Amino acid sequence: MRVLSGIQPTGRFHWGNYFGAIQQYIALQDHEQAFYFIADYHALTTVREPKLLQEYTWEAAVDLISLGLDPAKAALFRQSDIPEHAELTWLLMTVTQMHLLEKCHAYKDKKARGLAADAGLFTYPVLMAADILIYDSDVVPVGVDQVQHIEVARDLAQRFNTIYNTEVFVLPNARVLDSTAKVVGTDGEKMSKSYGNTIELFMPEKQLRKKIMSIKTDSKAVEDPKDPETCPVFTLYKLFANAEQQDTLAARYRAGGMGYGEAKQQLFEAAMEYFGSARTRREQLVTNPSEVHDILKAGAQRARAKAQATLTRAREACGLLAKPV
Ligand code: ADP
Ligand code: TRP
Repeated sequence: MRVLSGIQPTGRFHWGNYFGAIQQYIALQDHEQAFYFIADYHALTTVREPKLLQEYTWEAAVDLISLGLDPAKAALFRQSDIPEHAELTWLLMTVTQMHLLEKCHAYKDKKARGLAADAGLFTYPVLMAADILIYDSDVVPVGVDQVQHIEVARDLAQRFNTIYNTEVFVLPNARVLDSTAKVVGTDGEKMSKSYGNTIELFMPEKQLRKKIMSIKTDSKAVEDPKDPETCPVFTLYKLFANAEQQDTLAARYRAGGMGYGEAKQQLFEAAMEYFGSARTRREQLVTNPSEVHDILKAGAQRARAKAQATLTRAREACGLLAKPV
């Protein structure tokens, strides 16, 4: 089984990205053939500062490796190092019906807010389909908001295969972990860069503490009994704690006598411990940029060979033959 996923370098990674997506990448690399990439072509639809895009792309690689993505097991690469994605996008675009893209949420949401969308945003799901189909991917681990795009990739694969009476493309399936499909942010809503409610993975310790202390809670007094299940602090704590630790904190909520500050302190400590070894690895890695560079280069080499083979099949299927008949 081949696993593939991509993540956009549009900002620093946060807990939602980790528990929704990155954690799955790492779990799957042990048993499956895995390809993971930093979706910098995609990021161009939002990041319009070249320096910033470079910085986010670099940090994305450093973060993924620090968190446990193992280049000996999975190919890690930059999307733009494989220009074949862009060519396949064009081939797929010619079989993409407009109505399919009109209902995709990135475009629909922007339109609903009265904002002008450019063609890059409108056709973004086609690029994403190319990313997936070019590696003959069977499984695509993502957060729940990306499922619609994987459906588009399936549709386009099927349509291309039908039109050209071929089996060039493998039909991919999304893989979503229910338990972490929607990590909440500091305001209790879905954690997302666009809502400004994120907790970044590698914030300096002091800032992390401050951020956790800013999580929105109700105004119950210290002595009041509290409901853990409706509290974002507890919801987040569950990501880090085992069942026993969760029961212990939940009991303290219900008993009263514990302020939210204390629960937040526990969340802070649990998060520091959980990401402790990743933080240490990251500190080492940032002092050795050539290691990261080499990893991306080797990943791109592996990925490109596969991408070129699939693209050749697709070119042949639709009549773009290299040799004259
Ligand atoms: P953001 O919403 O912050 O811009 P992205 O859209 O770049 O995040 O998401 C990257 C990956 O992380 C996707 O697979 C997405 O589904 C996942 N993800 C993002 N936020 C969350 C969240 N709050 N809970 C679960 N998964 C998430
Ligand atoms: N669109 C995805 C996101 O915003 C990132 C992405 C690009 C992706 N290409 C992909 C995810 C291919 C999975 C497979 O999160």
